[in-house]
Amino acid sequence: MIEIINKLRQDFDSRLNSVADPKQLEQIRIDFLGKKGSLQGLMKDLRNASAEEKPKLGKDINLLKQHVEQEINNKTLGSKSVGKPEDTFDTTLPGRKELTGTLHPITQVMEEITSIFFGLGFQVEEGPEIETDYYNFEALNIPKDHPARDMQDTFYIEDETVLRTHTSPVQIHVMENREPPLRIIAPGKVYRCDSDVSHTPMSHQIEGLMVDEGVSFSHLKGIMNIFLQEVFGKDTKIRFRPSFFPFTCPSAEVDIQCVMCSGKGCRVCSQTGWLEILGAGMVDPAVFKSVGYDSEKWTGFAFGLGIERIAMLKFGINDIRLFFENDLRFLKQFPAL
Ligand code: FA5
Ligand code: MG
Repeated sequence: MIEIINKLRQDFDSRLNSVADPKQLEQIRIDFLGKKGSLQGLMKDLRNASAEEKPKLGKDINLLKQHVEQEINNKTLGSKSVGKPEDTFDTTLPGRKELTGTLHPITQVMEEITSIFFGLGFQVEEGPEIETDYYNFEALNIPKDHPARDMQDTFYIEDETVLRTHTSPVQIHVMENREPPLRIIAPGKVYRCDSDVSHTPMSHQIEGLMVDEGVSFSHLKGIMNIFLQEVFGKDTKIRFRPSFFPFTCPSAEVDIQCVMCSGKGCRVCSQTGWLEILGAGMVDPAVFKSVGYDSEKWTGFAFGLGIERIAMLKFGINDIRLFFENDLRFLKQFPAL
């Protein structure tokens, strides 16, 4: 039997040496390692060997099997080129194009606005998207029975836990932990039970807050003008409209002339010719009181921008929901700012 084993090894080596393509290699594998292959045959023959011979023969057969497996593996891994290159590689195929992703238009606008305020000395802060009633409303001077709660359709998680309806609660977190003077912005997601051409259930805001001695409404107006002209260009028509927020006094909302209809009135601006993009005002002394600031000494302004609205106006988009449909034909139109 020893001779048979040695003969098989020689056979194998010489066949492997002259292999020319993957098919032949596979055939060798089947002939030697297959269910009906030579090595299986040897194992069968082993049964007839004498008790003294068995251990040594078994060992030899195993060594041969290892040798065969290893050599076949080496041949497969070592050269993909068993066979001529043109069998496996078609040089006439067109190359694969690299697809580069781009930032979502909302992210682009967020980053642009953040960097404008960064240049004006504002630091970036973040806060949680799941808020307590206290931070989202109470500390902002919106008690439980206050009619202003109806201005924002809130998603409640539990009685006292909400998805934040605006980024204003970040003001409270920051003021609780820091002393004035401060200048911060807080970009992030907000949630409201609201959906139409200019409202989505999840949208983005950037909150701004500046507190110092002698901060006045003219500082607010100046900063808003600089920022809006930077984003929309010097000729942009902007208007400040008196408004109400429980956490600011006096309060204003800022509208920008509707770019879709140039102010004539259309479905995007609800026929008014203007689109509201932000709320702002002087921080109400009641808010300073809830964070322990002395409102005799410090004054401040705050604002909250709607990012989607700004992006709509900037890119001339007439339905806010397009931002969230993840349609590549839409998204590809915003390669970079
Ligand atoms: C607020 O959320 C106030 N927290 C803003 C504020 C901050 C006022 C600091 C004073 C001081 P308002 O609900 O108006 O205000 O929302 C602010 C902006 O977010 C709106 O002008 C609008 O541009 C945008 N916005 C609000 N709700 C949605 C929505 N569902 N979808 C898209 N944008 C929205
Ligand atoms: Mg509003």
